[in-house]
Amino acid sequence: ESTTLQTLERLRAESLDAGGPARREAQHKKGKLMARERIDLLLDENTFEEFDALKASRGGALGGGKTYLGDGVITGHGSIDGREVFVFSEDFTVLGGSLGEAHAQKICKVMDLAVKVGAPIIGINDSGGARIQEGVDALGSYGEIFHRNVRASGVVPQISCIMGPCAGGAVYSPSITDFVFMVEDSSYMFVTGPSVVKTVTHQDISAEELGGASAHATKSGVAHFTVPNDILCLREVRRLINYLPSSNRQRCPIHDLSDAANRTDPALDYLVPRDSSQAYDMRVLIRSILDGAEFMEVHSGFARNIICGFGRLGGQTVGLVANQPAVLAGVLDNDASFKAGRFVRFCDAFNIPLISLVDVPGFMPGPDQEHGGIIRHGAKLLYAFTEATVPRISVIVRKAYGGAYIVMNSKHIHCDVNLAWPTAEIAVMGPKGAAEVIYRKEIQAAENPEELLNQKMEEYRAAFANPFLAAKRGYIDDVIFPRDTRVHLIRTLQMLDSKRVDAPARKHGNIPL
Ligand code: COA
Repeated sequence: ESTTLQTLERLRAESLDAGGPARREAQHKKGKLMARERIDLLLDENTFEEFDALKASRGGALGGGKTYLGDGVITGHGSIDGREVFVFSEDFTVLGGSLGEAHAQKICKVMDLAVKVGAPIIGINDSGGARIQEGVDALGSYGEIFHRNVRASGVVPQISCIMGPCAGGAVYSPSITDFVFMVEDSSYMFVTGPSVVKTVTHQDISAEELGGASAHATKSGVAHFTVPNDILCLREVRRLINYLPSSNRQRCPIHDLSDAANRTDPALDYLVPRDSSQAYDMRVLIRSILDGAEFMEVHSGFARNIICGFGRLGGQTVGLVANQPAVLAGVLDNDASFKAGRFVRFCDAFNIPLISLVDVPGFMPGPDQEHGGIIRHGAKLLYAFTEATVPRISVIVRKAYGGAYIVMNSKHIHCDVNLAWPTAEIAVMGPKGAAEVIYRKEIQAAENPEELLNQKMEEYRAAFANPFLAAKRGYIDDVIFPRDTRVHLIRTLQMLDSKRVDAPARKHGNIPL
């Protein structure tokens, strides 16, 4: 006769054994870590407190079949650099990590607690989807998770790590979360897999091509980060968490990187080329101004014409949105508008100040973009910046043309402080386009049309290709020396620290999705 202590030992061992040694080996052979190994790498050492290790599967409607303690997911809480987070980690060795009712109830329990105490939720997905044997009980369970994802959105940060299959309805939980990490070569996400694609559209496509990390990081925009393996993925999640507040009620952790607030960078005075049609790399400016040159870029492989990411100024987290003149001249297109719009809304929801670095020649012209919905996608970014009530600072580095100028966090949509470099060009459009429109008849009639066009472009440049007209009107709060950008930003953030804005009474706005 065994004591209850012995019973506990036996049950714990059974739960730890999960799918058994053979499946464990198969998991490792695929280059994937086990669910518990992942949790250990994610959390501070010895901080994991597990829930429901002894919770059993409901059992299938088909009857028979083995039930497993823990039901294919490890859940609980622990800390990352001392701050509490909640975690669930699916175990592919147990029924393919498939989601049954008990499995889902465990996830829902930690999600509910996370919202109650105000701490991030980190999900590690490695699952064959809805547990087929449980039928509608499995499907309904997804609904319970989606419901919580939506309720938690904007309350606590939600992060998903895709470390294996994530297919069918299962994709919609990660897709609602704030940030999706994908591991190269061992993860994929799609609503319908290659075999269904083949049946319906007669296309041959591999799982990797259809929904691997690279496809989602460069084409669909579903993945915000891709990483070569599980270990690096979990390290990057820890790094991201360090920029974020635990909830919308808490402030971001302050990290002093020992970088002087009055540090200037004389090289910035020469960053922008004299010829304004020439490109330069906006990352140089980003690294120069941020504390310790540390920048965590979000969506780095998607819509590379705009750069979004987190850094620190004076120890405080800021969200940066910067046009990238080195890619497509920094133009705004559909993908860039979606990418930046969602990033801006995340920052606003979690009280992270926004800084835009502007060098934008306009929106991308052409039928592809127009028919792809540049009007409604561009409107997302406009709406997101306009509704944001966090401290908002804009630095016009060079081009700020037309509608794109207004959209990129301008004074006209109520950014708090708008600074400009002397190289700023604030105008309705570039000199060539402008001269061709307003002097078309004269140029056509001229003996030497090219000479007249050049002359008119020069006149236009002298009038508009500088920040002084805007400064005279007060649309620019200050024209600054580029070398002093960091100093001005830190001082302005300090001033805006206690900013409060009353929101209009309404249920919620209707952002053009
Ligand atoms: N429900 C129940 N069990 C499942 C499952 C599911 N949705 N998906 C996988 N499993 C089980 C398998 O039966 C297998 O069990 P075993 O270890 O006892 O043999 C185990 O998980 C591993 O699956 P396997 O197919 O051997 O692994 P794989 O790496 O070759 O393929 C998948 C993984 C996910 C591609 C494949 O399992 C699959 O297609 N699953 C169904 C996906 C699906 O359509 N889900 C519904 C979406 S809502």
